[in-house]
Amino acid sequence: MSLFDLKDKVAIVTGSSRGIGRSIAHQLAKAGAKVVVSSRKLDACEKVVEEIRAAGGQAMAIAASISSKEQLQALVDQTRSAWGPIDILVCNAATNPYYGPTTGMSDEVFDKVMRNNVLSNTWLCTMVYPDMKAKKDGAIVIVSSIGGLHGSAVIGAYNVSKAADMQLARNLAVEWGPDNIRINCIAPGLIKTDFAKALHEDPVLSAKYNNETPLRRMGEPDDIGGVAVFLASPAGRYVTGQTVVADGGMMIR
Ligand SMILES: NC(=O)c1ccc[n+]([C@@H]2O[C@H](COP(=O)([O-])OP(=O)(O)OC[C@H]3O[C@@H](n4cnc5c(N)ncnc54)[C@H](OP(=O)(O)O)[C@@H]3O)[C@@H](O)[C@H]2O)c1
Repeated sequence: MSLFDLKDKVAIVTGSSRGIGRSIAHQLAKAGAKVVVSSRKLDACEKVVEEIRAAGGQAMAIAASISSKEQLQALVDQTRSAWGPIDILVCNAATNPYYGPTTGMSDEVFDKVMRNNVLSNTWLCTMVYPDMKAKKDGAIVIVSSIGGLHGSAVIGAYNVSKAADMQLARNLAVEWGPDNIRINCIAPGLIKTDFAKALHEDPVLSAKYNNETPLRRMGEPDDIGGVAVFLASPAGRYVTGQTVVADGGMMIR
């Protein structure tokens, strides 16, 4: 058996209609998992499901906003009734509604960032926990960011939330380790998606970024999908509570 085999594992990936989540959904399906593609827009998720099926994988689409606990509960419940207990959860969707100094940030913005990027991940993890505990097996991957590892004058709240995700993974890894449930984060560097369009579409900023990155390029969504497969699969079975940085070497330069 391949160390990366996920045959018939049931996986939920939030924010998988595009970008990093879409790549993770594709890669998990290629490894054999049955993947629930989720975002706020069902039609966009259905397209990814069609791509996965066309490539020979198994997938279905369920719409849910990470802002709504009820919708996330419905996402978990519908997955369970269609395919049974959940083996893999990837908390990928996140929000970054504010760009500017902390002094100009409203309480509402801070609350929204923390709710969408940290509390919603906590909800999802606790919703799938009973399935994983019963099986004494499970893997949770939270998509954090290298923003959680350094300071920022303009995306401060987002970075607080991404650092909190790393701590959430450590806490749950300690709490649920005895149930053989592993919780890890991925901290991507700059990846060419809609989320980071303002940066990667600016020729001056992108040239500077490429020049400063040891691998001399920005990331592509597929640079992250494989990391998620590693963390979700038997290859990563002794890895828990960690943050795997995938940033072309930006943080160690
Ligand atoms: N791109 C980067 O440079 C970078 C770097 C470090 C970390 N990250 C992290 O990587 C993750 C994915 O980012 P990305 O770059 O792939 O973004 P993206 O291309 O903009 O995709 C975001 C995905 O999340 C969904 N989404 C957005 N808001 C949502 C909500 N409220 N509820 C449910 N789904 C929602 C979107 O679909 P709908 O609009 O249909 O809901 C879409 O599927 C995020 O956690 C981000 O913080 C990104």
